[in-house]
Amino acid sequence: MTSTLSEGNTPPRARLGSWPTPLEPAPRLAAALGLGPDDLWVKRDDLTGLGGGGNKIRKLEWTCGAALADGATVLVTTGAAQSNHARLTAAAGARLGLRVVLVLAGSPPESGPSGTPANTASGNLALDGLLGAHVVREEDRTRLAARAEQVAEELRAAGEVPALIPFGGSSPLGARGYAACADEIIDQAPDVASVVVALGSGGTMAGLVAGLGDGRVLGVHVGAVDEPARTVADLVSELCGRPCDPHALRVRHDQVGAGYATLTEPVMNALTLAARTEGIVLDPIYTGRAMAGLAAAVADGDIAAGQRTVFLHTGGLPGFFGHPTTVARAEAGLLDLPGDPTTPSSTP
Ligand SMILES: Cc1ncc(COP(=O)(O)O)c(C=O)c1O
Repeated sequence: MTSTLSEGNTPPRARLGSWPTPLEPAPRLAAALGLGPDDLWVKRDDLTGLGGGGNKIRKLEWTCGAALADGATVLVTTGAAQSNHARLTAAAGARLGLRVVLVLAGSPPESGPSGTPANTASGNLALDGLLGAHVVREEDRTRLAARAEQVAEELRAAGEVPALIPFGGSSPLGARGYAACADEIIDQAPDVASVVVALGSGGTMAGLVAGLGDGRVLGVHVGAVDEPARTVADLVSELCGRPCDPHALRVRHDQVGAGYATLTEPVMNALTLAARTEGIVLDPIYTGRAMAGLAAAVADGDIAAGQRTVFLHTGGLPGFFGHPTTVARAEAGLLDLPGDPTTPSSTP
């Protein structure tokens, strides 16, 4: 573990993922973005293994480690309806023999005639069910944490030992997983100048900053929290036991568009480009925004040719299938990039 973490006993860790994840070159994508062929590498944290993979596994190793040490019988967490964190908490619970309750924003899918679902749960929600999680819906997003507390109380009254896993898995403890990822990146690409990552609840970027320093991590805000830089800085301060100035962090705010759940044109272009140059599938909320942020950073000179850049692929593939607009546009073949010779419409 990196020496920048605050000192003290190392907390217990549950082994859930496959480490280290690969670091793969992306020369065709690099060229399409305006970088040199050896400049861009993809850290495949979509290949962490359990439950379809993704960044949340690294955090869950620590938060579930603590839950097991506390004698937990059930994990309780919160998220959006298409939360990758919720799906992976369900998978972690299955792996560890713990029950899982997910408190998710929104209302349940509508029922069709004679109990058949008309508007079937898709993407992450379908996997939550497959993995055996119990899903509680909360229509008021601002009440998710309070509702999770209430669920935990009810479980305690029924004789269970609930462990509350924080929103997005982002706590100083969970962020330890990404300090370890930073160590992997330094081993695999010692000359890395920038690591580009989606910034949701902040724990992933915080752990990377703990391991790589303030200046080498570029977070692309997805619209999940109100003050992304402060959220990350607070996590770094607590994790490392040193002050972290939010203004010293590299955070882009230009990819949120009309809001967290919306699909923007730059993200559609990023999804298409990554898929058609490297066969890499991104999602419309997180990794698509991070890739659109990388393209914008190259365009405005924040990231330049000749510097080693690592794009952190944090997973989220089920979220692609849980986003009706993205699926419809992909199916309709409307994602063609103007003038792109790899698009079907312009190939013979
Ligand atoms: C696929 C994916 N990438 C990135 C993130 C962002 O990670 P964090 O919440 O640690 O900022 C998330 C969070 O839900 C995610 O699901």
